[in-house]
Order: sequence, then structure tokens, then C-alpha cells
Amino acid sequence: MNEGTSSTGRSSAADGTPIDPPASFVARANVTDGSLRDAFAERWPECWDRAADFLDWTSPYDRVLDAANGYDWFAGGTLNASYNCVDRHVEAGRKSHAALKWEGCLGETRTYTYHDLYREVNALAAALRARGVEAGDVVTTYMPVLPELPVTMLACARLGAVHSVVFAGYSADALAMRLADTGSTCLLTCDGYYRRGTAHDLKRKADNACLDVPQSVDRLIVDRLDDDRTYGDNYVEYATLVDEYGGETVDPVPREATDPLFVIYTSGTTGRPKAVRHTTGGYLAQVAWTSHAVLDLEPGDTHLCSADVGWITGHSYVVYGPLALGATTVLYEGTPDYPERDHLWGIVERNAVDVFYTAPSVIRAFMKWGAEYPERHDLSSLRLLGTVGEPVDETTWRWYYDHIANGECPIVDTWWQTETGGILVSTLPGVDPMRPGAAGPPLPGVSADVLGPRGTSVDAGEAGSLVLTRPCPGMAVGLGESTGEAPADWRYVTGDAAAVGADGYIRLLGREGNALNVAGRRLGTREIEAAIVGVEGIAEAAVVGVEGPQRDTALYAYVTPQRDAGPVSPLRERVREAVAAAIGGFAAPDVVVFTPDLPKTRSGKVLRRHLRRIADGEAVSDTGSLRNPEIVGELESIVDSVS
Ligand code: WTA
Repeated sequence: MNEGTSSTGRSSAADGTPIDPPASFVARANVTDGSLRDAFAERWPECWDRAADFLDWTSPYDRVLDAANGYDWFAGGTLNASYNCVDRHVEAGRKSHAALKWEGCLGETRTYTYHDLYREVNALAAALRARGVEAGDVVTTYMPVLPELPVTMLACARLGAVHSVVFAGYSADALAMRLADTGSTCLLTCDGYYRRGTAHDLKRKADNACLDVPQSVDRLIVDRLDDDRTYGDNYVEYATLVDEYGGETVDPVPREATDPLFVIYTSGTTGRPKAVRHTTGGYLAQVAWTSHAVLDLEPGDTHLCSADVGWITGHSYVVYGPLALGATTVLYEGTPDYPERDHLWGIVERNAVDVFYTAPSVIRAFMKWGAEYPERHDLSSLRLLGTVGEPVDETTWRWYYDHIANGECPIVDTWWQTETGGILVSTLPGVDPMRPGAAGPPLPGVSADVLGPRGTSVDAGEAGSLVLTRPCPGMAVGLGESTGEAPADWRYVTGDAAAVGADGYIRLLGREGNALNVAGRRLGTREIEAAIVGVEGIAEAAVVGVEGPQRDTALYAYVTPQRDAGPVSPLRERVREAVAAAIGGFAAPDVVVFTPDLPKTRSGKVLRRHLRRIADGEAVSDTGSLRNPEIVGELESIVDSVS
């Protein structure tokens, strides 16, 4: 035990002192072997067979890693993800165990045992097959967090079809772009959803998206709102199909380990979202292994991950990881503060949740509302807490540890990305001490480095770019670059700034470039800018993210109207509407600043770093490289008056 740590690990430690995992946790943790990192390093890449062992394979793989053919993991092996997440638990005598529990926005609850899940996945797979869906086809979903969403994902996986889950907060245009890009001819959506108790239409957006794509789309609809609306000839009801095909079974189609399981779109460096493809074998192995080693899940555990299933965190740690291990996953529709600010804690108590995984921005909201809300509930079922998506500042970490962990649960600060499929940097909760503010060392089998501008490693504690130096099984197809043939020549630049301490712990410092994390969601500034300049009367736009005191990000859009655009106030609303239409309301800028010009270099490059400083209220001194230095003072006073 480190000094200043009591036997429960309560955070009485002085700032910066590592906190050992509580002894009560270590006593029953899944991983307690302190030499695991060394053991993986000695056997790399064969060490990753340990992850593959969490799965049932229909035929064994020939090699763990085949670098000759573009880094194929578990090549030659075949498996089915739906079999691994459903059937094998039923076969193991766990059919009456809860697989999925759902809490709806209006207080409804639904539980699916593994047997229920088996029946519905099979019925839907039979229905999809009858409608022509085959292995390799792309099926798109567009719905909020309903049990039907994981059922659809697993039904696709059963057939070997590739799912493309589109977050329900995305606009019709964003859905259309994804449908067109994948050429998907099957869409599962729902009539609407509730948010803060109010019904919102989703079908209209789905209709509009389908009008906008070249292919014809077979549409299945879930009745969420339970009103008397009829859906018209273009739609078949999900419930009708599941009834019709109830009792049918579909043999899980064996897939090559390297066959795609799903595609997910994320913000990249350009104005267009990019498609990320994840494989069946490598991805599933990585999420199952990290759910075991980092989230410490085991069969019978109840897991609550507050992410929407539409994001990668939901794919990996609401659906595939927990279900691959035979745990119970809790889905909730809605927001943490509706109907009350203790809503999530009520869910934890009612379901006796063992492991809770959320984003730092959610914890910061709880911290702002006050400890009285968690205090209303018995949270003693919790064994482990996790965070993902943004850096956790020390104050937030400590609040989480004191008020939610009660000093008795370790916290894992897990770093990863849509592209990596699963967690890559984190403490092993039964092994490593926690250092608030630092995620941890790379997981066993993972190698990372922090590079300076010249491409060489920086000294301990210095900031640079986080680069992964070895491929991992869960990584997206085609990720990274090779300068030679050996795995040692492989590199992936993550786009995150970071520093590594002398202790080997990685401290994340935020995104480099033009991707942003806002409230746990990844946004591309280029995508938002593209939407804004599409508004009539607007010449140019630059969007930056600005961190608040506790690292919450606010979006600032600096917008230059055309000279003859007239008054700017109607434009402000149009800017927000344009972003809502192109991407979704959640991406609309917090502050819109109209300016006659943007600070630019002599070669015409917009200097976003200046724009960030101005939004931050900080002085900009290095205006030497600007072609229009006078704009800085002007912008400072405009920002002063609008924010
Ligand atoms: C950020 C979400 C600090 C990071 C899984 C990364 C984090 C981006 C952490 C990926 C963490 C994720 N600490 N920052 N523990 N985890 N990030 O693709 O900037 O939506 O590159 O995947 O979130 O966001 P994405």
C-alpha cells in the first residue's frame, strides 16, 4: 500500500499520490497478476491468443497475426458473433439469466433473459433472411436505445450481415449520407422516441433520408410511441415480423475472423465523416478481453454503460463485450437528469449494478448538481467504476471516487477510440495503482509512444503526439501505416496529445487537429464548418472547441458573412439550423461569433490556435505570422460582447 492510503483506499492521499486498488476488490478481481504486461511483451503477438480464448471458434485460426497480408488477426479462424454473445450462454445452462435489462424514459422496464434474446434474435434473423438479407450485406439501424437495437445487431451478426448503426440524434441528411455510402438496402428504425418525457418523431427523418438515396430501402419499424399512427406501405412492423417468424431458428453463419462485423462512421480530418470497419474475430476478442481484464466483468455481473449504443462505446461495452462474457447489460433510454437528477443512481440501485462506465462530462454534471442525488440511493452493489471519452481532471476524479465509489471501488480511466475498437490504455484495476488525471499504462500487448515534432520520443512528462507502435486485434481494418514489412515498422498516429510520466502512465491532453470531444461525443470541426458555409450569405467559418475550467468543451463558431449579407442576427439561427440539419442538433455551436475576417497566415491558413485563445479570453501575442493582425483586437472585443 502506498502512503496516505487507508485500507479502503479512500482518497485521503495527498495530490499526486497513487492510490492502490482497494484490497476487497483485489481479493476477487479477474486479473491480479502483476507480471501480465511482461508476459504479453515476451510473447507478442502470440500473447493475443489470450483474448481469442474468450471466444468460441467454429474453426481454429492458423496464426495469431499475419503481417504479410496487411495485419490480419486470427486469420483462418471462423466464428459467429451472435453465437458467442447468445447461444453459447444458453447452451451453458444460463438461459434464464438476464442478458439485457432496459429502462425506458417513461419509467418502463423490460428484461430479456438469454433465452428471450436467443428467440428474438433468431426470429428477426429469419425475417431478415426471408427479406433477402445475406452475409456481407449492410443493414442500417436508426433508433434510440431500445432492446430492439442490440437484437438487430445480433440478428445481422447471425446472418453474417454487416450492421451500420446510426445514432438517433443524427439528422436525415447524416442518415442519408451513411445509407448511400454503404449502399445499404435495409433499414430498421422506429416511429419516434422520448426525450425528457416528450415524444419526438424519428420516422419522418428516416423517410426523408430514404428519399435522398439512389437505392430503394426495405424498411422495418419499431413501434415505440404506441400511438395510433399508421406507417404506410413502405414499412413493415418489427413486432409483426418477430411474431410471424417466432420459433424459427437460423444457424449462425461462420465468418472469417477478418470479415467485417460492422461499420461505424466517425469524424475524421475532413469535412466528411469516415467509415470505420471492425472485424468479427479481432474486434470481438479485444472487447471480450478488455471487458474481462479492465471492466472486470464476469458472467452474472450487471453492467451499466451510460453511452448510447449508436457510438462505439455502446457497440463495444453496452452490447458486444458484456454479452460475449455472459453478463447482464443495462440499457437506458434518456438522460441522467430526467425525470430527476438521481435517475441513473436509481437505475444502479434497482438493478444492483456491479460495474458502471460513463463519460467525465456526465460525472461533472453530477458534481455540479450535488452529492445529495447519489446519496438518495444504495450504491453498495458497485464494484468498479470507469470513465471514457475525455480526460478526467483530478477534482472530478476525486468526486467520483468519494461520492460514487465510496472509496471502495477502483476507477479505471480508459483511453481508446472508435478506430481502436476497444480499450488500449488503462490501469488493470486489480493490479495497478490509480493516479487521478492519468489514464494509465498501455494494456498488456499494447505499445505506445509520445513523439515530438521531429518524430522522436519526448522526455518523460513532456507533451507530444500519442502514437501506437504495434497493431492490436480490435483495431479497424487498414488502420495505421507501415514503413516496412515487420510489425515493428507499423505506426498509428492517434491524433491525441499526451505526456508519459516516469511511471509509464499516459496523461491525455486533448485532441490535436480538428476532431473534438464534446460531452463524450466525437465531432469534426471540418464537418460543422462545411454545414455553416452552406448557409446563404456566409463566406467562411472556423469552429474551435474551448475547454472550460473542468475541461468541458464549448463549441465556438467564428463566421464571416458575405459583404452583402445584410443583418447578421437572422444568420445566427440559420447557422445553428444548418448544423442541426447536416449533422444533428447536438453538434450546433454554443457560441456564434460574426466577424469581418478570420486571422490568417500569409498563405491564407486560418490560425485556429488564435481563435481558441480569443474564445478563452486569453491574450494573443504572437500575431507576427498573420496577414491581418488587426483582426485579433477586433475579435477580442466581439467575443467579449457575445460570450
Ligand atoms: C478521447 C470513444 C482522455 C480521445 C471511445 C480519443 C479520451 C477520443 C479518453 C476518441 C480518456 C477517449 N482520456 N481522452 N480516457 N478516452 N478519449 O472515437 O481524444 O468517440 O481520441 O471513442 O476520445 O473518441 P471516440
